[in-house]
Amino acid sequence: MSTRVAASKMPDTSLSLLLYVSRLAAGAPTGAALDIARESRVNNSRDQITGVLTFDGTNFAQWVEGPSGAITDLYARLSTDTRHSDLDVIHWDAVASRRYPGWKLGFLRLDLAEFGIASLRGQRGTKGLEAFTFIVPALDIEPVATLDAPEPAA
Ligand SMILES: Cc1cc2nc3c(=O)[nH]c(=O)nc-3n(C[C@H](O)[C@H](O)[C@H](O)COP(=O)(O)O)c2cc1C
Repeated sequence: MSTRVAASKMPDTSLSLLLYVSRLAAGAPTGAALDIARESRVNNSRDQITGVLTFDGTNFAQWVEGPSGAITDLYARLSTDTRHSDLDVIHWDAVASRRYPGWKLGFLRLDLAEFGIASLRGQRGTKGLEAFTFIVPALDIEPVATLDAPEPAA
């Protein structure tokens, strides 16, 4: 008997990182951002996604990392979510490890425009990643618990 497993049945062990910016939908209360963060933590725990959501009252910038299939599924949900608009992907690629392994979804409300979420729009690639991590340096010094990537099949 063959012990081979069909590729489609193999667990997804590759990690991807998605960084994007978007805008809170017109007319939506700013409190919606906190609700989104709360509900997303439940989903992200289920989907083994970690990351950070920043919000300045108007703009979102979100860094999410996790199994590649889970990130693709999340992107599909994000792109049809009417609570935000003008979704602009800054970076989406495979990564070797997580940057925010302990955060199901860290939420950072940035009230000062000079923190510059809006300035991320239009940036691409590693410059955009660096700009985001400059905006949220405080998160880098928090102790983290590791959320393991899915185990490969035995
Ligand atoms: C700015 C923003 C960030 C979001 N981040 C996440 C997220 O990290 N994880 C998640 O599952 N849903 C996130 N959502 C919600 C999704 O778009 C979608 O509504 C949700 O995943 C659907 O979950 P459900 O299928 O359990 O109803 C976010 C929505 C917005 C507007």
